Amino acid sequence: MTGIPAVSRRAVLGGAGAGLAVGAVGGAWGGRASARESKPLPGTARVAFHGPRQGGIVEPAQARVEWAAFDLLPGTGRDRAAGLLRDWSAAAARMSVGEPGGDGGGGIALDAGPNSLTVTFGFGTALFDKLGLADRRPPALAALPAFPGDALDPARSDGDLWVQIGADDALVAVHALRVLRRLAAGVAAPRWQMSGFARTPGATARPTTGRNLMGQVDGTNNPRPQDPDFAAKVFAAGPDWMAGGSYAVLRRIRMLLDDWESLPTDRQERLVGRRKSDGAPLSGGPDAGERTPVDLAATAPDGTLAIAPDAHVRVAAPDSNGGAAMLRRGFSFHDGLLADGSPDAGLLFAAFQADPARGFVPVQQRLARGDGLSRFLRHEAGALFAVPPGAPEGGYVGQPLLEG
Ligand code: HEM
Repeated sequence: MTGIPAVSRRAVLGGAGAGLAVGAVGGAWGGRASARESKPLPGTARVAFHGPRQGGIVEPAQARVEWAAFDLLPGTGRDRAAGLLRDWSAAAARMSVGEPGGDGGGGIALDAGPNSLTVTFGFGTALFDKLGLADRRPPALAALPAFPGDALDPARSDGDLWVQIGADDALVAVHALRVLRRLAAGVAAPRWQMSGFARTPGATARPTTGRNLMGQVDGTNNPRPQDPDFAAKVFAAGPDWMAGGSYAVLRRIRMLLDDWESLPTDRQERLVGRRKSDGAPLSGGPDAGERTPVDLAATAPDGTLAIAPDAHVRVAAPDSNGGAAMLRRGFSFHDGLLADGSPDAGLLFAAFQADPARGFVPVQQRLARGDGLSRFLRHEAGALFAVPPGAPEGGYVGQPLLEG
Protein backbone atom coordinates (compact mmCIF):
# COMPACT_ATOMS: atom_id res chain seq x y z
CA MET A 1 0.00 0.00 0.00
CA THR A 2 0.99 3.59 -0.40
CA GLY A 3 0.11 4.47 3.16
CA ILE A 4 2.20 4.45 6.27
CA PRO A 5 1.71 2.37 9.40
CA ALA A 6 -1.33 3.52 11.36
CA VAL A 7 0.62 4.09 14.54
CA SER A 8 3.15 6.47 13.06
CA ARG A 9 0.42 8.17 11.02
CA ARG A 10 -1.63 8.86 14.13
CA ALA A 11 1.43 10.10 15.93
CA VAL A 12 2.36 12.51 13.18
CA LEU A 13 -1.20 13.70 12.73
CA GLY A 14 -1.55 14.26 16.45
CA GLY A 15 1.66 16.24 16.48
CA ALA A 16 0.65 18.34 13.51
CA GLY A 17 -2.60 19.45 15.12
CA ALA A 18 -6.02 19.58 13.52
CA GLY A 19 -6.56 22.10 10.79
CA LEU A 20 -2.93 22.91 10.23
CA ALA A 21 -2.30 23.81 6.62
CA VAL A 22 0.91 22.20 5.53
CA GLY A 23 2.78 23.42 2.51
CA ALA A 24 0.41 26.25 1.81
CA VAL A 25 2.95 28.37 -0.05
CA GLY A 26 4.79 28.00 -3.33
CA GLY A 27 3.95 25.53 -6.04
CA ALA A 28 1.30 27.02 -8.29
CA TRP A 29 3.85 29.79 -8.84
CA GLY A 30 7.58 29.34 -9.17
CA GLY A 31 10.27 28.63 -6.65
CA ARG A 32 8.25 26.11 -4.78
CA ALA A 33 9.92 25.00 -1.63
CA SER A 34 7.16 23.81 0.62
CA ALA A 35 7.05 22.07 3.94
CA ARG A 36 5.18 19.35 2.11
CA GLU A 37 8.20 18.52 -0.03
CA SER A 38 10.71 18.45 2.76
CA LYS A 39 8.63 16.11 4.91
CA PRO A 40 9.91 12.55 5.05
CA LEU A 41 6.35 11.17 5.08
CA PRO A 42 4.29 13.20 2.63
CA GLY A 43 1.27 11.01 3.25
CA THR A 44 0.73 12.72 6.58
CA ALA A 45 0.64 16.25 5.17
CA ARG A 46 -2.76 17.86 5.36
CA VAL A 47 -4.45 21.04 4.22
CA ALA A 48 -7.28 22.40 6.38
CA PHE A 49 -10.69 22.11 4.71
CA HIS A 50 -12.36 24.83 6.75
CA GLY A 51 -11.24 28.43 6.50
CA PRO A 52 -11.88 31.69 4.68
CA ARG A 53 -10.80 30.23 1.33
CA GLN A 54 -11.30 26.85 -0.24
CA GLY A 55 -8.21 24.70 -0.63
CA GLY A 56 -6.87 23.75 -4.03
CA ILE A 57 -6.28 27.30 -5.24
CA VAL A 58 -3.09 28.65 -3.70
CA GLU A 59 -1.63 25.37 -2.44
CA PRO A 60 1.06 23.67 -4.50
CA ALA A 61 -0.39 21.50 -7.25
CA GLN A 62 -0.54 17.98 -5.83
CA ALA A 63 0.79 14.95 -7.67
CA ARG A 64 -2.71 13.91 -8.73
CA VAL A 65 -5.94 15.67 -9.58
CA GLU A 66 -9.47 14.49 -10.34
CA TRP A 67 -11.88 16.96 -11.89
CA ALA A 68 -15.54 16.00 -11.99
CA ALA A 69 -18.60 17.94 -13.11
CA PHE A 70 -22.15 17.05 -12.11
CA ASP A 71 -25.57 18.15 -13.34
CA LEU A 72 -28.51 18.45 -10.96
CA LEU A 73 -31.16 15.85 -11.64
CA PRO A 74 -34.46 17.24 -12.96
CA GLY A 75 -36.68 18.46 -10.13
CA THR A 76 -33.82 18.99 -7.69
CA GLY A 77 -34.60 22.03 -5.59
CA ARG A 78 -32.55 24.26 -3.36
CA ASP A 79 -33.00 22.09 -0.24
CA ARG A 80 -31.59 18.99 -1.84
CA ALA A 81 -28.76 20.90 -3.50
CA ALA A 82 -27.93 22.43 -0.11
CA GLY A 83 -28.03 18.96 1.46
CA LEU A 84 -25.55 17.72 -1.11
CA LEU A 85 -23.12 20.57 -0.49
CA ARG A 86 -23.48 19.96 3.25
CA ASP A 87 -22.72 16.25 2.82
CA TRP A 88 -19.88 16.92 0.39
CA SER A 89 -18.28 19.49 2.68
CA ALA A 90 -18.50 17.20 5.71
CA ALA A 91 -16.98 14.29 3.80
CA ALA A 92 -14.21 16.48 2.39
CA ALA A 93 -13.40 17.77 5.87
CA ARG A 94 -13.14 14.21 7.21
CA MET A 95 -10.99 13.00 4.36
CA SER A 96 -8.70 16.03 4.61
CA VAL A 97 -7.53 14.74 8.00
CA GLY A 98 -7.22 11.16 6.81
CA GLU A 99 -10.53 9.87 8.18
CA PRO A 100 -12.88 7.76 6.07
CA GLY A 101 -15.16 9.92 3.96
CA GLY A 102 -18.23 7.81 4.66
CA ASP A 103 -20.00 5.21 2.58
CA GLY A 104 -18.49 4.44 -0.76
CA GLY A 105 -14.91 4.57 -1.79
CA GLY A 106 -14.54 0.83 -1.48
CA GLY A 107 -11.64 0.95 0.95
CA ILE A 108 -9.41 2.33 -1.79
CA ALA A 109 -7.49 4.60 0.58
CA LEU A 110 -7.43 2.38 3.67
CA ASP A 111 -4.12 2.92 5.53
CA ALA A 112 -3.24 6.05 3.54
CA GLY A 113 -2.76 9.48 5.09
CA PRO A 114 -4.51 12.56 3.70
CA ASN A 115 -1.62 13.26 1.32
CA SER A 116 -2.38 16.99 1.20
CA LEU A 117 -5.92 16.28 0.01
CA THR A 118 -7.87 19.33 -1.06
CA VAL A 119 -11.45 19.32 -2.32
CA THR A 120 -12.66 22.43 -4.14
CA PHE A 121 -16.30 22.99 -5.09
CA GLY A 122 -17.57 25.25 -7.88
CA PHE A 123 -20.95 26.37 -9.26
CA GLY A 124 -21.71 26.59 -12.99
CA THR A 125 -23.94 29.19 -14.54
CA ALA A 126 -26.90 26.84 -15.23
CA LEU A 127 -27.15 25.96 -11.52
CA PHE A 128 -28.55 29.40 -10.78
CA ASP A 129 -31.43 29.00 -13.24
CA LYS A 130 -32.24 25.48 -12.05
CA LEU A 131 -32.39 26.57 -8.40
CA GLY A 132 -34.33 29.80 -9.02
CA LEU A 133 -31.29 31.87 -8.10
CA ALA A 134 -30.76 33.68 -11.42
CA ASP A 135 -30.92 37.05 -9.68
CA ARG A 136 -27.94 36.07 -7.51
CA ARG A 137 -25.74 34.87 -10.35
CA PRO A 138 -22.63 37.05 -10.34
CA PRO A 139 -21.96 39.04 -13.54
CA ALA A 140 -18.46 37.50 -13.59
CA LEU A 141 -20.07 34.10 -14.27
CA ALA A 142 -21.39 35.26 -17.66
CA ALA A 143 -20.71 32.75 -20.42
CA LEU A 144 -17.24 33.07 -21.91
CA PRO A 145 -17.03 34.24 -25.53
CA ALA A 146 -16.06 31.77 -28.25
CA PHE A 147 -12.34 31.99 -29.04
CA PRO A 148 -10.78 31.43 -32.47
CA GLY A 149 -9.68 27.83 -32.85
CA ASP A 150 -11.89 26.49 -30.05
CA ALA A 151 -13.35 23.04 -30.72
CA LEU A 152 -15.02 22.43 -27.37
CA ASP A 153 -16.85 19.16 -26.84
CA PRO A 154 -20.11 19.99 -24.98
CA ALA A 155 -20.20 16.56 -23.34
CA ARG A 156 -16.89 17.30 -21.63
CA SER A 157 -17.56 20.98 -20.94
CA ASP A 158 -19.51 23.05 -18.39
CA GLY A 159 -21.71 21.48 -15.69
CA ASP A 160 -23.83 22.64 -12.74
CA LEU A 161 -21.32 21.63 -10.08
CA TRP A 162 -17.56 21.17 -10.21
CA VAL A 163 -15.37 19.19 -7.85
CA GLN A 164 -11.59 19.42 -7.93
CA ILE A 165 -9.83 16.79 -5.83
CA GLY A 166 -6.07 17.09 -5.40
CA ALA A 167 -3.83 14.72 -3.44
CA ASP A 168 -0.27 13.52 -3.49
CA ASP A 169 -1.50 9.94 -3.83
CA ALA A 170 -3.67 8.70 -6.70
CA LEU A 171 -5.58 6.23 -4.53
CA VAL A 172 -6.48 8.93 -2.03
CA ALA A 173 -7.76 11.17 -4.83
CA VAL A 174 -9.78 8.44 -6.51
CA HIS A 175 -11.21 7.37 -3.15
CA ALA A 176 -12.44 10.90 -2.49
CA LEU A 177 -14.00 11.02 -5.93
CA ARG A 178 -15.85 7.75 -5.32
CA VAL A 179 -17.15 8.99 -1.96
CA LEU A 180 -18.39 12.30 -3.37
CA ARG A 181 -19.95 10.62 -6.36
CA ARG A 182 -21.89 8.27 -4.11
CA LEU A 183 -23.12 11.14 -1.96
CA ALA A 184 -24.47 12.80 -5.11
CA ALA A 185 -26.72 9.85 -5.96
CA GLY A 186 -30.30 10.96 -6.45
CA VAL A 187 -29.35 14.65 -6.49
CA ALA A 188 -26.80 15.15 -9.25
CA ALA A 189 -25.48 12.98 -12.05
CA PRO A 190 -21.87 12.86 -13.24
CA ARG A 191 -21.42 14.87 -16.44
CA TRP A 192 -17.71 14.52 -17.15
CA GLN A 193 -14.54 13.53 -15.37
CA MET A 194 -10.84 14.14 -16.02
CA SER A 195 -7.66 12.96 -14.32
CA GLY A 196 -4.38 14.81 -14.23
CA PHE A 197 -1.00 14.73 -12.61
CA ALA A 198 1.89 16.95 -11.60
CA ARG A 199 5.28 16.35 -10.04
CA THR A 200 5.35 14.10 -7.00
CA PRO A 201 6.85 15.67 -3.86
CA GLY A 202 10.36 14.36 -3.43
CA ALA A 203 10.76 13.54 -7.13
CA THR A 204 13.56 16.06 -7.56
CA ALA A 205 16.57 16.88 -5.43
CA ARG A 206 16.00 20.57 -6.21
CA PRO A 207 12.33 21.43 -5.67
CA THR A 208 11.40 23.91 -8.35
CA THR A 209 8.55 24.91 -10.60
CA GLY A 210 7.10 21.85 -12.33
CA ARG A 211 7.24 21.01 -16.01
CA ASN A 212 4.40 20.38 -18.43
CA LEU A 213 4.36 17.64 -21.08
CA MET A 214 6.06 19.96 -23.60
CA GLY A 215 8.99 19.86 -21.18
CA GLN A 216 8.74 23.52 -20.23
CA VAL A 217 9.07 24.89 -16.75
CA ASP A 218 5.50 26.11 -16.30
CA GLY A 219 4.14 28.43 -13.61
CA THR A 220 7.09 30.80 -13.16
CA ASN A 221 5.37 34.13 -13.71
CA ASN A 222 2.25 33.40 -11.73
CA PRO A 223 1.04 36.02 -9.28
CA ARG A 224 2.51 35.23 -5.85
CA PRO A 225 0.83 35.45 -2.46
CA GLN A 226 3.43 37.92 -1.27
CA ASP A 227 2.54 40.34 -4.08
CA PRO A 228 0.51 43.27 -2.68
CA ASP A 229 -2.16 42.82 -5.36
CA PHE A 230 -2.34 39.02 -5.22
CA ALA A 231 -5.73 38.82 -3.52
CA ALA A 232 -7.20 41.50 -5.78
CA LYS A 233 -6.13 39.49 -8.85
CA VAL A 234 -7.21 36.06 -7.64
CA PHE A 235 -10.11 36.49 -5.20
CA ALA A 236 -13.48 38.12 -5.81
CA ALA A 237 -14.68 41.05 -3.69
CA GLY A 238 -18.36 40.13 -4.15
CA PRO A 239 -21.26 39.71 -4.49
CA ASP A 240 -21.83 38.98 -0.79
CA TRP A 241 -21.81 35.17 -0.97
CA MET A 242 -18.78 35.16 -3.31
CA ALA A 243 -16.56 37.57 -1.35
CA GLY A 244 -13.24 35.75 -0.94
CA GLY A 245 -14.16 33.22 -3.61
CA SER A 246 -12.65 32.95 -7.08
CA TYR A 247 -13.58 32.08 -10.65
CA ALA A 248 -12.05 29.00 -12.22
CA VAL A 249 -11.63 28.79 -15.98
CA LEU A 250 -10.87 25.23 -17.08
CA ARG A 251 -9.62 24.03 -20.43
CA ARG A 252 -8.62 20.59 -21.61
CA ILE A 253 -5.81 21.50 -24.00
CA ARG A 254 -4.40 18.65 -26.06
CA MET A 255 -0.80 19.03 -27.16
CA LEU A 256 0.40 17.85 -30.57
CA LEU A 257 3.34 16.26 -28.83
CA ASP A 258 4.75 14.31 -31.78
CA ASP A 259 4.95 17.52 -33.85
CA TRP A 260 6.31 19.51 -30.93
CA GLU A 261 9.04 17.02 -30.13
CA SER A 262 10.23 17.06 -33.74
CA LEU A 263 11.22 20.75 -33.35
CA PRO A 264 14.81 21.55 -32.37
CA THR A 265 15.15 22.90 -28.83
CA ASP A 266 16.05 26.43 -29.89
CA ARG A 267 12.88 26.63 -32.00
CA GLN A 268 10.80 25.37 -29.05
CA GLU A 269 12.43 27.99 -26.85
CA ARG A 270 11.67 30.84 -29.28
CA LEU A 271 8.00 29.86 -29.36
CA VAL A 272 7.78 30.19 -25.58
CA GLY A 273 10.37 32.92 -24.92
CA ARG A 274 12.12 30.95 -22.21
CA ARG A 275 14.98 28.45 -22.06
CA LYS A 276 13.90 24.87 -21.80
CA SER A 277 16.61 23.70 -19.41
CA ASP A 278 15.84 26.10 -16.58
CA GLY A 279 12.97 28.35 -17.69
CA ALA A 280 15.16 31.47 -17.88
CA PRO A 281 13.77 34.22 -20.16
CA LEU A 282 15.52 34.58 -23.52
CA SER A 283 15.86 38.30 -22.78
CA GLY A 284 18.24 37.65 -19.89
CA GLY A 285 21.47 36.43 -21.51
CA PRO A 286 23.43 33.30 -20.61
CA ASP A 287 23.57 34.08 -16.87
CA ALA A 288 19.81 34.48 -16.48
CA GLY A 289 17.86 32.13 -14.25
CA GLU A 290 14.21 31.20 -13.97
CA ARG A 291 13.50 34.17 -11.71
CA THR A 292 15.22 36.77 -13.92
CA PRO A 293 12.51 39.29 -14.89
CA VAL A 294 11.30 39.08 -18.48
CA ASP A 295 12.37 42.12 -20.54
CA LEU A 296 9.98 42.32 -23.48
CA ALA A 297 11.93 45.24 -25.01
CA ALA A 298 15.34 43.52 -25.01
CA THR A 299 16.97 42.87 -28.37
CA ALA A 300 19.32 40.15 -29.54
CA PRO A 301 22.74 40.99 -31.06
CA ASP A 302 21.17 40.88 -34.53
CA GLY A 303 18.71 43.61 -33.52
CA THR A 304 15.61 41.39 -33.42
CA LEU A 305 13.50 41.13 -30.30
CA ALA A 306 15.03 38.66 -27.80
CA ILE A 307 11.52 37.46 -27.01
CA ALA A 308 9.85 36.94 -30.37
CA PRO A 309 6.62 38.78 -31.30
CA ASP A 310 4.67 35.49 -31.19
CA ALA A 311 6.42 34.02 -28.11
CA HIS A 312 3.87 32.69 -25.61
CA VAL A 313 5.19 34.71 -22.67
CA ARG A 314 5.03 37.97 -24.67
CA VAL A 315 1.50 37.40 -25.92
CA ALA A 316 0.23 36.20 -22.51
CA ALA A 317 2.02 38.79 -20.34
CA PRO A 318 -0.06 41.25 -18.30
CA ASP A 319 1.84 44.08 -20.05
CA SER A 320 0.44 42.89 -23.40
CA ASN A 321 -3.11 42.58 -22.04
CA GLY A 322 -3.89 45.73 -20.10
CA GLY A 323 -2.72 44.15 -16.83
CA ALA A 324 -4.95 41.05 -17.12
CA ALA A 325 -3.69 38.40 -14.69
CA MET A 326 -4.70 35.00 -13.32
CA LEU A 327 -3.30 32.25 -11.10
CA ARG A 328 -2.58 29.24 -13.30
CA ARG A 329 -2.74 25.85 -11.57
CA GLY A 330 -2.79 23.24 -14.29
CA PHE A 331 -2.10 19.53 -14.39
CA SER A 332 -0.89 17.25 -17.18
CA PHE A 333 -3.02 14.49 -18.65
CA HIS A 334 -1.97 11.45 -20.66
CA ASP A 335 -5.02 9.42 -21.57
CA GLY A 336 -3.85 6.84 -24.09
CA LEU A 337 -3.94 7.10 -27.86
CA LEU A 338 -6.15 8.75 -30.44
CA ALA A 339 -7.35 6.83 -33.50
CA ASP A 340 -4.32 8.04 -35.48
CA GLY A 341 -1.94 6.69 -32.85
CA SER A 342 -0.95 10.08 -31.47
CA PRO A 343 -1.04 10.62 -27.71
CA ASP A 344 -4.21 12.02 -26.16
CA ALA A 345 -2.12 14.15 -23.85
CA GLY A 346 -1.76 17.74 -22.78
CA LEU A 347 -2.68 20.19 -20.09
CA LEU A 348 -5.71 20.39 -17.83
CA PHE A 349 -5.41 24.16 -17.69
CA ALA A 350 -6.98 25.88 -14.70
CA ALA A 351 -6.85 29.59 -14.03
CA PHE A 352 -8.24 31.23 -10.88
CA GLN A 353 -9.04 34.93 -10.96
CA ALA A 354 -11.19 37.63 -9.39
CA ASP A 355 -13.02 38.16 -12.70
CA PRO A 356 -12.45 36.24 -15.96
CA ALA A 357 -13.15 39.44 -17.93
CA ARG A 358 -9.94 40.85 -16.39
CA GLY A 359 -8.04 37.56 -16.49
CA PHE A 360 -8.49 34.65 -18.85
CA VAL A 361 -10.72 36.28 -21.50
CA PRO A 362 -8.47 39.06 -22.84
CA VAL A 363 -5.39 36.83 -22.62
CA GLN A 364 -6.97 33.90 -24.45
CA GLN A 365 -8.39 36.26 -27.08
CA ARG A 366 -4.85 37.37 -27.84
CA LEU A 367 -3.26 33.91 -27.52
CA ALA A 368 -5.79 32.36 -29.90
CA ARG A 369 -4.67 34.77 -32.63
CA GLY A 370 -1.00 35.44 -32.03
CA ASP A 371 0.61 32.72 -29.91
CA GLY A 372 3.25 30.63 -31.71
CA LEU A 373 2.60 27.81 -29.28
CA SER A 374 -1.07 27.59 -30.26
CA ARG A 375 -0.19 25.77 -33.51
CA PHE A 376 0.70 22.82 -31.28
CA LEU A 377 -2.39 23.05 -29.05
CA ARG A 378 -6.04 22.07 -29.35
CA HIS A 379 -8.63 23.41 -26.90
CA GLU A 380 -11.06 20.50 -26.60
CA ALA A 381 -13.22 21.22 -23.56
CA GLY A 382 -13.84 24.15 -21.28
CA ALA A 383 -15.81 25.39 -18.31
CA LEU A 384 -16.24 28.34 -16.00
CA PHE A 385 -17.19 27.93 -12.35
CA ALA A 386 -17.75 30.27 -9.44
CA VAL A 387 -15.66 28.87 -6.58
CA PRO A 388 -17.25 30.18 -3.38
CA PRO A 389 -15.16 31.14 -0.35
CA GLY A 390 -14.33 28.45 2.16
CA ALA A 391 -16.71 27.28 4.85
CA PRO A 392 -16.21 27.85 8.59
CA GLU A 393 -16.25 24.86 10.96
CA GLY A 394 -19.81 23.59 11.09
CA GLY A 395 -20.73 25.27 7.81
CA TYR A 396 -20.58 24.11 4.22
CA VAL A 397 -19.39 25.57 0.95
CA GLY A 398 -22.07 27.69 -0.72
CA GLN A 399 -24.27 27.91 2.38
CA PRO A 400 -24.75 31.72 2.20
CA LEU A 401 -26.06 31.34 -1.36
CA LEU A 402 -28.16 28.22 -0.92
CA GLU A 403 -29.72 29.28 2.39
CA GLY A 404 -29.60 33.05 1.89
C1 HEM B 1 -1.08 23.81 -23.15
C2 HEM B 1 -1.15 25.12 -23.14
C3 HEM B 1 -0.13 26.00 -22.49
C4 HEM B 1 1.19 25.79 -22.26
C5 HEM B 1 2.02 24.57 -22.61
C6 HEM B 1 1.71 26.97 -21.60
C7 HEM B 1 3.01 27.12 -21.19
C8 HEM B 1 3.51 28.25 -20.57
C9 HEM B 1 4.87 28.43 -20.19
C10 HEM B 1 5.98 27.43 -20.37
C11 HEM B 1 4.98 29.66 -19.63
C12 HEM B 1 6.27 30.32 -19.11
C13 HEM B 1 6.50 30.08 -17.66
C14 HEM B 1 5.51 30.74 -16.75
O1 HEM B 1 5.56 31.94 -16.50
O2 HEM B 1 4.64 30.00 -16.28
C15 HEM B 1 3.67 30.24 -19.65
C16 HEM B 1 3.36 31.50 -19.18
C17 HEM B 1 2.10 32.03 -19.17
N1 HEM B 1 0.97 31.48 -19.71
FE1 HEM B 1 0.84 29.70 -20.63
N2 HEM B 1 0.68 27.86 -21.44
C18 HEM B 1 -0.45 27.31 -21.97
C19 HEM B 1 -1.70 27.88 -22.02
C20 HEM B 1 -2.02 29.11 -21.51
C21 HEM B 1 -3.34 29.69 -21.53
C22 HEM B 1 -4.59 29.04 -22.14
C23 HEM B 1 -3.25 30.88 -20.90
C24 HEM B 1 -4.33 31.90 -20.62
C25 HEM B 1 -5.34 32.18 -21.43
C26 HEM B 1 -1.88 31.05 -20.51
C27 HEM B 1 -1.38 32.14 -19.84
C28 HEM B 1 -0.08 32.32 -19.46
C29 HEM B 1 0.40 33.48 -18.74
C30 HEM B 1 -0.45 34.65 -18.25
C31 HEM B 1 1.77 33.30 -18.56
C32 HEM B 1 2.74 34.25 -17.85
C33 HEM B 1 3.24 35.27 -18.85
C34 HEM B 1 4.19 36.25 -18.16
O3 HEM B 1 3.70 37.16 -17.51
O4 HEM B 1 5.42 36.07 -18.27
N3 HEM B 1 -1.16 29.97 -20.89
N4 HEM B 1 2.80 29.37 -20.22
